[in-house]
Amino acid sequence: MKSALVLLAFLAVSQGLLRIPLRRGKSARQLLEERGLFEEYRRKFPYNPAAKFLPRNEESVVPMTFDPDTTYYGVIGIGTPPQFFKVLFDTGSSDLWVPSIRCTSSACDSHAKFNSSASSTFQADTKTFYISYNSGFAAGSTGYDTIKISDIYVEHQVLGLTETEAAFLGSVPWDGILGLAFPDMSLEGGTPIFDNMWNQGKIPQNIFSIYLSSSVEGSMLILGGTDPSYYTGIINWVPLYHATNFWNIQIQSITINGNTVACSGSCEAVVDSGTSVIIGPSNDINNINGWLGASANEYGDASVSCSNMNLMPDIVFNINGYSFSLPPSAYIMKSASGCRTGFAPGTWILGEVFMRQFYTAFDVSNNMVGFAQAV
Ligand SMILES: *[C@@H]1O[C@H](CO)[C@@H](O)[C@H](O)[C@H]1NC(C)=O
Repeated sequence: MKSALVLLAFLAVSQGLLRIPLRRGKSARQLLEERGLFEEYRRKFPYNPAAKFLPRNEESVVPMTFDPDTTYYGVIGIGTPPQFFKVLFDTGSSDLWVPSIRCTSSACDSHAKFNSSASSTFQADTKTFYISYNSGFAAGSTGYDTIKISDIYVEHQVLGLTETEAAFLGSVPWDGILGLAFPDMSLEGGTPIFDNMWNQGKIPQNIFSIYLSSSVEGSMLILGGTDPSYYTGIINWVPLYHATNFWNIQIQSITINGNTVACSGSCEAVVDSGTSVIIGPSNDINNINGWLGASANEYGDASVSCSNMNLMPDIVFNINGYSFSLPPSAYIMKSASGCRTGFAPGTWILGEVFMRQFYTAFDVSNNMVGFAQAV
């Protein structure tokens, strides 16, 4: 009887969940390698995924840079009737933007573009937005419209419509970005979409969660709660640390076979679905890569021999008294050009390499992140 009640309660909650299937597209690295352009691109746009977390200067912000390996996207509809876009669901930024038909950059040619004249619910705004990159920038205007996400409609959502985009955006598999970090991070200055969804009563709980599969299909963004079909065991919750704008947590240490190899005496890390790898200060990352028998090239890529994978150790992240263990199958990235580790230099970020192993829940009301072993 008790379990029947628990089951009923669970069904009641899980019924209001919105599920947005994510696809793992071809990464910019793959695309550019195929076209023989990758070396040229990374010389022009050095790999610095952590740049989006650098402090802002007065006139620009740096919410993103060239991360050649982000691949996951889902589809949303903008306007009435909806125009559809592939977006990167990014827990490391807070704005929604897509290309507009006024975009004059070649990067926009390979993407869907929003036509505000074709939407009966679009409201123009006088604000402009400006995103600076390592090299070049993307800029545009803002407006408000209805966003269709899964089966619900979020009304009066601020969004950015780009008119200029940096060249590298032409090779990413998504058209735009949907930010899932906190309102203070927003450079468009409006309420981020997840907050609006909650304020408009569209979801049962102020929580979203992400399951990243290593296959092309099967990944899922769940809005309004968590879904036990994507993890085993329980969710281990971690309070946010010094949290204001980011999904920021404290890591106590990172160990291999009981030896501290990085983050000695604790460190602070951002949980970011918009970063492909795990990033940390170069001393720590060099040390981890050294334990794995890898050394980094000038771009931070640390190559290893694919045949050595089964000899490599688990890497354990000790967080809030829990141990989250990453096996080589999780942290080694295979591509046509060989194997490399999923550890790159910068400031601490737990990106897709971590999130594929651990289903991640983001609890907005309680300022917590939860991790569970992904199925
Ligand atoms: C935008 O939509 C308007 C109204 O439907 C249409 O007349 C116009 O041709 C569209 N522009 C483009 C570039 O598709």
